[in-house]
Amino acid sequence: MTAAINRTPLASDDDWWRSAVVYQVYVRSFADANGDGVGDLQGIRERLPYLRELGVDALWLTPFFTSPQIDGGYDVADYRDVDPMFGTLADFDAMITDAHALGLRIIVDLVPNHTSSAHPWFRAALAARPGSAERERYLFADGKGEQGELPPNDWESIFGGPAWTRVADGQWYLHLFDPAQPDLNWRHPEVRAEFEDVLRFWLDRGVDGFRIDVAHGMIKAEGLPDVGFNSMTTGRRQSELLGKGRLPYFDQDEVHDIYRAWRPILDSYPGGRMAVAEAWAETPQRLARYIGPDELHQAFSFDFLDATWSADSFRKVIDTALAESTIVGAPTTWVLSNHDRQRHVTRYGDGEVGLRRARAAALLMLALPGCAYLYQGEELGLPEVLDLPDELRQDPAFLRTGESRDGCRVPIPWSGELAPYGFSPEGCELSWLPAPATWRALSVAAQTGVPGSTLELYRAALRIRHEHPALAGTAGAVTWLEAGPGVLAFRRSAGDTVLTCAVNVSGAEVVIDGYGRPIVASAELTEQGGGHLLPVDAAAWFERR
Ligand code: BGC
Ligand code: MG
Repeated sequence: MTAAINRTPLASDDDWWRSAVVYQVYVRSFADANGDGVGDLQGIRERLPYLRELGVDALWLTPFFTSPQIDGGYDVADYRDVDPMFGTLADFDAMITDAHALGLRIIVDLVPNHTSSAHPWFRAALAARPGSAERERYLFADGKGEQGELPPNDWESIFGGPAWTRVADGQWYLHLFDPAQPDLNWRHPEVRAEFEDVLRFWLDRGVDGFRIDVAHGMIKAEGLPDVGFNSMTTGRRQSELLGKGRLPYFDQDEVHDIYRAWRPILDSYPGGRMAVAEAWAETPQRLARYIGPDELHQAFSFDFLDATWSADSFRKVIDTALAESTIVGAPTTWVLSNHDRQRHVTRYGDGEVGLRRARAAALLMLALPGCAYLYQGEELGLPEVLDLPDELRQDPAFLRTGESRDGCRVPIPWSGELAPYGFSPEGCELSWLPAPATWRALSVAAQTGVPGSTLELYRAALRIRHEHPALAGTAGAVTWLEAGPGVLAFRRSAGDTVLTCAVNVSGAEVVIDGYGRPIVASAELTEQGGGHLLPVDAAAWFERR
């Protein structure tokens, strides 16, 4: 086993998030302590030592609040309580206390764009009449057509189909996601006050930050204007414009008022409480507007995740991201996978090729300055599970579009010979999604202490990232090096100490010379002349002091 990272519990550094490695815990698939086949807070608590050994700085927990779980908890019915499926508030308190004692910070997921249809506010809205105060907290509208039988406009749900559902008295309500996720009216002062209070509720319980779900969505253009096309009229889905174009329901200027009100709340607590936006905007410049000393601390950059396996593609997104971070004065975020996207082993080609590339990409990401977000299981090299039986799939998008995010949400294999591989307690065979037989060899136990395993690669890289002067903190700007076609190479330095990261995307093995001694590699290097042969789809870090 690798040596534990040497650090004091919770370094008192307000800027911790600038260089942190944040591990995303998809709560229902991480670890199940009570044996019901669903991950829970006590399961996380029991696995905190694993996460500390892995060497991450913080955890982002996906929603564990009271919810009917129509969209995996992104449909919240009570923002101030834990769903019984995941435990209790006392479990949360115990978990965060232990996490902090181990030096791990906790980020929780805030879902402000919509509530669950089971939220008391929405129930009250349904029970009340059109035009009532209860309906004003949501976006109810009369339909078009002679009897109001057509939706108020042409907006489309991100999960497919119309973004409007009609209620018994004939009015329609807006839901940019599932009908069980009605959008809130963020021009309503009660909505604003409520969420400011929810922020304080979790800050008081000690959370170190928030991931803001659909952070670009809360304000809709006045008058709810049509987009002009949708899949019903032209066959083109509006969601194609995500991150590329303007939509009247996303990235409206007024949304920034909300974050300007939130920032002083975060700043009024000690210890560097932060917020990261899951935001989509037309241009990187518009995305950058969410970040700054008077708004949020970070926004996920999904360009790195979307980069294809080529030197040009990576180089371009890295350069753009670094340039932007200089402009906004906030560090870049790097993401390769999350609970909404196909796992990167599979995106990069699946099987052995995909795994090789995923390991190399990890070394690339972890050598870059900024904050890296890991998604649970990527440290094990887990692929997407592509062959889940349809009847087990739970993603609400699946029913509407045939696309499902369940394949990246399969429970983590921890140990043992039989599925679910230690996800649930000994002797318990339940797990809400089945793990494939091939995952036996990928479990935490199967990889721990095994030289060359993906888990040990991540551990080694995280330890070096934490301790190496050229990588630690925000030190060391990126300087690109000319290393031949198809080879990405850059160095970062602190004084005379230089760390060089080289990634071979060229399709043929290459000789790397002159960067010093290799300190970690995603595949075996062989010495050649004075240098080293870097295999196809491999990456390595070299050091010169
Ligand atoms: C979350 C998704 C969720 C959606 C609706 C997204 O950004 O990451 O998992 O389905 O928001 O809340
Ligand atoms: Mg459980």
